[in-house]
Amino acid sequence: MFDKQTQLDSVHLSLIHITDNELKCLRMENKYLPVFGEGDINARIMIVGEAPGKNEAECGKPFCGKSGKILDDVLSQAGLDRSNIYITNVVKDRPPQNRDPRPDEIELYAPLLDRQIEIIQPKIVITLGRISMAYILKRYCGLDEAPTITSAHGQEFNACTHDGITFTVVPMFHPAATIYNKESRKSLYTDMKKVVSLLS
Ligand code: URA
Repeated sequence: MFDKQTQLDSVHLSLIHITDNELKCLRMENKYLPVFGEGDINARIMIVGEAPGKNEAECGKPFCGKSGKILDDVLSQAGLDRSNIYITNVVKDRPPQNRDPRPDEIELYAPLLDRQIEIIQPKIVITLGRISMAYILKRYCGLDEAPTITSAHGQEFNACTHDGITFTVVPMFHPAATIYNKESRKSLYTDMKKVVSLLS
């Protein structure tokens, strides 16, 4: 059995050489970077966003723009350190004009996220926004119909991989959705505090 880093490196390579598609073409044309994910590969918490924005595609790291600043603030207010967390996205190349990733793009990229979850084996997966919530709840919690983010945020869902590895999913609002909405920013903080209490 290869160690975690070696296994992740091989998944990273599959991302670099992913089947040609619109997002990969845009990556090549714009000299964008694929955004694989970063952080502690032994983390108990994994955060899963939707897809990289322009900043992320330029620097190759998840949540390094405006949404990332909000995420970092909320994490530190809740007493969590980003360096102890693993952060990634469902789709790992930037969609044009920050449009939502299409179902076929989610289907193409999500197996890479599945491998990251199997390798890292987090105890808690935080989904940010509707798209990552819907994917994770369907794939790992057997929920074909995703609840609304307004009703599901901050709740705990039991999840299980095909190999029988269990973890808890906690959906949260996407940081970008909290830029002009004080209430959802407060919820993001409260939900993050809940994750801290789940860990202790
Ligand atoms: N939004 C996301 O969903 N992911 C990122 O990495 C950045 C912004």
